[in-house]
Amino acid sequence: MGQNSSQGAKMTPPVRVIVVGAGCRGEIYSKFASVHPDRMKVVGVADPRKFARTKLQQQHKITDENTFDDWHSIVEREKFADAVLICTPDRLHKEPAVAFAKKGYHILLEKPMATTAEDCTAIVEACTQSGVMLSVGHVLRYDPTIHKIKELVDSGVIGDVMHIQHLEPVGFYHFAHSFVRGNWRNEAESSFVLLAKSCHDIDLIHNWAGARRCVKVSSFGSVSHFQKDCKPKGAADRCLDCSVEKHCPYSARKIYLDRVKQGHTGWPVSVICPNSLPDIESVTEALRTGPYGRCVYECDNDVCTNQVVNIEFEGGLTAAFSMVAFTEEVCKRKTTIYGSKGELSYDGHEVRVFDFLTQRSTKHKPHSNTPWLFGMSGHGGADYHLMDAFISAVASNDPSLIRSGPVETLLSHLLVFEAERSRLEGRVVHCGDVSGRDDTEKHVDMKMTSS
Ligand SMILES: NC(=O)c1ccc[n+]([C@@H]2O[C@H](COP(=O)([O-])OP(=O)(O)OC[C@H]3O[C@@H](n4cnc5c(N)ncnc54)[C@H](O)[C@@H]3O)[C@@H](O)[C@H]2O)c1
Repeated sequence: MGQNSSQGAKMTPPVRVIVVGAGCRGEIYSKFASVHPDRMKVVGVADPRKFARTKLQQQHKITDENTFDDWHSIVEREKFADAVLICTPDRLHKEPAVAFAKKGYHILLEKPMATTAEDCTAIVEACTQSGVMLSVGHVLRYDPTIHKIKELVDSGVIGDVMHIQHLEPVGFYHFAHSFVRGNWRNEAESSFVLLAKSCHDIDLIHNWAGARRCVKVSSFGSVSHFQKDCKPKGAADRCLDCSVEKHCPYSARKIYLDRVKQGHTGWPVSVICPNSLPDIESVTEALRTGPYGRCVYECDNDVCTNQVVNIEFEGGLTAAFSMVAFTEEVCKRKTTIYGSKGELSYDGHEVRVFDFLTQRSTKHKPHSNTPWLFGMSGHGGADYHLMDAFISAVASNDPSLIRSGPVETLLSHLLVFEAERSRLEGRVVHCGDVSGRDDTEKHVDMKMTSS
């Protein structure tokens, strides 16, 4: 990917994009214009946070006329770009996605597509009806090593796939940052964790299973440890006031203040000062008054800390997925795919294939070729490759370059909703079982059944 598409793109003027939501994700994706000014130009931005939109405006020399505090103002104007990058919070995806599709903009939409199955379906329908391209921020599809897994499975080197085992280790401090203190801690404000975090993983499992339809799914999970009754004796409500903080691995002082004192101002420190650059003063103030200084045992978090999902696909292929908060590794997935002729394993770094016949193994670690600007913060280069594919697709009007397109992404999102239904209802969900459902749910189920 990349080389042919990039060569094709050189013949065309830069793709003009508007960034909706100039937070972490909007800023990272925009870097593509700095790396490839001949291929992409950021011509507009919308964000209610002045600090965020001004930063992006200055970085990309966006005119005042094209700088907005809300996305609605953009759709009220004549179309002035080719594509839009929608990087707003989870609950603010559906409305802008449908509105921009109707205006004829190609769309890069952050995951999750939306927080309900009906809204995900509505987005895909709007894009299909308007004939615009949709790429969803399933960045792992574009990670060169993870993509190699798909190529190897499809090549048949391990024969027929029998079982997929996949682990998502979130990382103890990452979980505390994002899912206990941060933006994704509370389902009513964002979404449940299987959607907010693990939609990437269910999407990969769905992708590795190929064209096989999901037949049954079950899931268990709950919030553990990060609750009031686990609060250590003598702990304060804020880490800066806490006398037992030095014994706590989740201490905000350790996660943020010690890092900034050592000169680390990237994620997660960069996130906690929404209206200024992070330094010792602004980080201290954020920990004194903001959500990230709270004791992890005194937050309003309600999303699962550990969750398992079991899936049966057509033909007897089974999959077992685990998401765990309490890990050393941060998001370095581990996967084993068991086939009739061999076993493929991925340790988060490289892929190894063991052949049952020859009893030999081969190792695969593709080169990433990621520009340094993306390498540090962009999911190990995957963000860059997602942008490369999306911009090439728009430049050459070729949706086949997008790996995270509407149909397959919708199906994997629907599987996430079915898994969560299983967890909440405490039963195995038969995909396609439409009894006792309302019309929208039946519509969604029919889509799963006919995949
Ligand atoms: N693909 C991935 O791996 C990945 C990783 C992290 C986050 N995400 C997703 O990306 C999205 C953004 O996450 P983030 O970390 O950048 O969050 P963020 O809070 O840093 O950025 C979101 C931005 O949207 C802005 N916004 C709010 N209302 C708006 C409006 N009406 N118009 C325009 N902008 C508005 C906010 O002010 C904020 O700056 C979320 O849906 C998140 O789940 C995806």
